[in-house]
Amino acid sequence: MYPLAPYPLSRPRRQRAAQWRRALVQETHLRAADLIWPIFLIEGENVTQPIGSMPGVSRMSIDIALREVEKAAALGIPMVALFPSTDPAKKTSSCEEAWNPDNLVCRATRAIKAALPQIGVMEDVALDPYNADGHDGIVRDGVILNDESVEALVRQALVQAEAGADVLGPSDMMDGRIRAIREALEAAGHHDTIILSYAAKYASGFYGPFREAVGADGLLKGDKKTYQMNPANSDEALREVAHDLAEGADMVMVKPGMPYLDICRRVKDSFAVPTFAYQVSGEYAMIEAAAAQGWLDRRSAVLESLTAFKRAGCDGILTYYAPLVAGWLAEQG
Ligand code: PBG
Repeated sequence: MYPLAPYPLSRPRRQRAAQWRRALVQETHLRAADLIWPIFLIEGENVTQPIGSMPGVSRMSIDIALREVEKAAALGIPMVALFPSTDPAKKTSSCEEAWNPDNLVCRATRAIKAALPQIGVMEDVALDPYNADGHDGIVRDGVILNDESVEALVRQALVQAEAGADVLGPSDMMDGRIRAIREALEAAGHHDTIILSYAAKYASGFYGPFREAVGADGLLKGDKKTYQMNPANSDEALREVAHDLAEGADMVMVKPGMPYLDICRRVKDSFAVPTFAYQVSGEYAMIEAAAAQGWLDRRSAVLESLTAFKRAGCDGILTYYAPLVAGWLAEQG
C-alpha cells in the first residue's frame, strides 16, 4: 500500500484507547435509514401468528401490520417489504392470485399507503407465494418456464404498482424480466415506480425459515438451482447486475447477505449504484438460535452483522431485525 511508520513510531492502539478516539475514526455507520423491514402478512383481523423457525417474527393481519409499520416509521425506518402468506386454497399452477388486484399484499399496500404515506412500501415480484408448485416461476412438466413466467410477473408487477407499491423487487431470477416489467410500467404511466432488482440471488440453504413463513415449504419440489445462482460464482453476479441495470433496474440487491459480502463489495465497486443486501431468514434464525442458547451476545452480534453490510459497501439492508435495531439506535442517540 504505502510505507507505515514502524513501531513504536506508529502504535495503532492509540486510536482505540478510548471510546471518543474510536468514534472519531469510525469509518462506517449504521442508521435506521439503512434498514428495510420485511414483514409477513396473513388474512384476518387481529391475527398475530408466530413463525416457529423465526423466533420474534410473526405473520400479521393487515390491521396489526398497520400498527407495527407505524412504529417502524416513527423509528426512522424508510421502507417495509411485504410478503403474503397465501391461503393454500388460492395457490394454483397458473398463479393467478398473483395478479388479483385485491390479493392480500395489494390490500395491505393500499392500507399502508393511505394511513402512512411517509413510509415506502416494497413488494416482491415472484410467483412462489401463489404457486401450487412452490416455485418462483410457472412450472410445466417439471420445467420452470422462463418467458411464460415473465408474462405473469409483468401482470403481477402492474397490479402492485396500481395498488401503490413504491418499489418493486423482482426476486424470481427469470431472464429478461426487468426489461419487461420496466416497459410495462412506463406504458402504464408508472414512471416513478422504483425497481430494486434481486439481481444476484443465490440458490441458498438459508431461505428455509422464509419458506415456512409464506407456506411454500411443503409445496416446493426439487430446488431453485435452474434459476437462482450457484453459490460458487462471483463473476456471474456482475453479469446479472449488468443485465438488470441495462434493462432498467434502479437499484440492485445481493442475497443472501452475510455469506456474500464479497459480492456486495464487487457490485458496489463495479457499478456504483444503490446496492442492498438481504439478511435472510436463515441468517436471522442462526443468530436467534445461538443467542437463545446463550452462545453469543445477541445485541452485539446483530449490530456487528448489520454494520458489516455497510462496511462491504451496501447502502442498506433488508433485515427482520429492523425495528429492534432502530429502537437500539434511537436509545444510543
Ligand atoms: C422468493 C423469495 C425468497 C426470499 C425472498 N423472496 C425465498 C426463495 O427464493 O426461495 C427469501 C427471504 C428470506 O429467506 O428471508 N421469491
